Amino acid sequence: MRVGVLTGGGDCPGLNAVIRAVVRKGIEVHGWELVGFRNGWQGPLTGDSRPLGLDDVEDILTRGGTILRSSRTNPYKVDGGVEKIKSVLAEQQVDALIAIGGEDTLGVAKRLTDDGIGVVGVPKTIDNDLGATDYTFGFDTAVSIATEAIDRLHTTAESHHRALVIEVMGRHAGWIALHSGVAGGASVILMPEREFSVDQVVEWVERRFEREYAPIIVVAEGALPEGGQEKLLTGEKDSFGHVRLGGIGNWLADEIAGRTGKESRAVVLGHVQRGGTPTAYDRVLATRFGLHAVDAVADGDFGVMVALKGTDIVRVKLSEATAELKTVPLERYEEAEVFFG
Ligand code: F6P
Repeated sequence: MRVGVLTGGGDCPGLNAVIRAVVRKGIEVHGWELVGFRNGWQGPLTGDSRPLGLDDVEDILTRGGTILRSSRTNPYKVDGGVEKIKSVLAEQQVDALIAIGGEDTLGVAKRLTDDGIGVVGVPKTIDNDLGATDYTFGFDTAVSIATEAIDRLHTTAESHHRALVIEVMGRHAGWIALHSGVAGGASVILMPEREFSVDQVVEWVERRFEREYAPIIVVAEGALPEGGQEKLLTGEKDSFGHVRLGGIGNWLADEIAGRTGKESRAVVLGHVQRGGTPTAYDRVLATRFGLHAVDAVADGDFGVMVALKGTDIVRVKLSEATAELKTVPLERYEEAEVFFG
């Protein structure tokens, strides 16, 4: 049997750990041949692939990024895209695909399964916003990086009596903001699920200054002021219709400075959160996802995604996984509010 592997969407620490697990178990337990398609769905569309042997996955467990590279290609936006993929798979004698990705990559995986291609999905995103799994790998690493940044910013904010606003990733979901904000002892956490009042933020900031303690405000890139609009870096959309967000941190820092008269600066963590080596937790989760994806392919169980439920890896329908984004429940946010101000 020949099995293709690809990584799509934004990169994420742990992708290489999944690839390694798939290749190791695929070859050593099943005797498969593994093929790596390059650049997400662009690989199966254009036939850009490479064989993956045991040597290719040596030393990649701890490496960030993806040895297969990635893209945000949507084959359903390409004329005859599905037919092209079918003919590449037939030409290269690939019987099944393991697609590692987030909502977009797995949305395509679901449609391809409906169109007759055997695909098993593996959930990845630092945003942790995929439905049907308790956690995605990459999230723990992103939270650790953001928390370390908050810890470092606390000491400099305090020394200079400054308010520091830290913008973290999270287009539609505030998981990174909430977890890093709680872990880092933030004075304010703002996320896309709940519009915020600038007056309230200013009140919390002033209260923190009164206690001779510098305020740290963690804001997700997709957070919205009441009645306001998402801050966009550019109006351009990718092939899944996503705009580039960014700018809420600087905007909020200016608002705070203007209203409090205190120096206020923004730090945008950006892609630092996605780079570098995965945490031990993410290495283990990614490895287990890879091993279980191989089992699903071996069982001929296509149209499923491997998922974490408690401490077990289970299979869920791709349709269930991509039906709805997993946003932060408001009660989780309200738990943290006692620390604001
Ligand atoms: O999907 C994960 C994510 O990290 C989002 O939070 C963010 O908006 C997006 O990727 C940005 O990715 P890129 O800059 O690669 O388009």
